[in-house]
Amino acid sequence: MGVTLRDVTRRYPGITALDSVDLVIDDGVSVALTGPSGAGKSTVLHLIGGMDRPDSGTVEIDGQELTSARLDAHRRRIGFVFQRFHLLPALTALDNVLVPVLPRRVDFDRRARAMELLDAVGLAQRARALPSELSGGQQQRVAVARALINRPGLLLADEPTGNLDSTTGREIIDLLLSLSEQYGTTMLIATHDSEVAANCDRIVRLQDGRITSDEKVAPAADVLDRLGGLRP
Ligand SMILES: Nc1ncnc2c1ncn2[C@@H]1O[C@H](COP(=O)(O)OP(=O)(O)OP(=O)(O)O)[C@@H](O)[C@H]1O
Ligand SMILES: [Mg+2]
Repeated sequence: MGVTLRDVTRRYPGITALDSVDLVIDDGVSVALTGPSGAGKSTVLHLIGGMDRPDSGTVEIDGQELTSARLDAHRRRIGFVFQRFHLLPALTALDNVLVPVLPRRVDFDRRARAMELLDAVGLAQRARALPSELSGGQQQRVAVARALINRPGLLLADEPTGNLDSTTGREIIDLLLSLSEQYGTTMLIATHDSEVAANCDRIVRLQDGRITSDEKVAPAADVLDRLGGLRP
């Protein structure tokens, strides 16, 4: 899914969380949102995810303005991963992955797809485990599988590695990036981790509710080698 913010402003009493932000994200691209605490990263994710509304300006998804009437349908088409994993403690890993599609009619075999995703995140053997029986990294893997169960065109991740040690965090990011690439999912990750950001296609930096830099990440040397000797 492509995303466009046009002149988006979001205010709270005494605070302008976002100040006339323009941002165009192409379909299938991974973008890191960086910047200090309070810069507006989560606000951007919430507006794009249809969990919050701008005071002025527009959010467009695939060229269509996100209006109040479209919010519910929109939220069902995207995936979220949060800093705190937000798994339901009484449900197994498998059932947690199934939660978003339980109340809905879908055109695929839910359980088969949930198992496929648990396998993709390396947890096929732990499908019956409760969250309390899983490590933090494993819980976040379940959350990643859950975010992908409805085949989202857009994945929003708000500091998905914030509660994990750096090695485990790295694994989660690699997983998010490889799965989103495999499924052609557009991805937006809010992160304080510059190494995480460097692995995305693009880095957008926010400060005080404004975009202060926006850069494409150069592909790593090994990627260029794989593309066939493009290096001089
Ligand atoms: N519900 C709210 N009510 C009042 N102010 C809010 C609310 N949500 C966010 N803000 C303010 O808006 C600004 C942007 O907040 P936001 O959560 O987007 O920052 P952030 O970049 O995600 O920060 P962090 O890195 O700490 O998560 C902050 O000044 C914050 O205090
Ligand atoms: Mg935040």
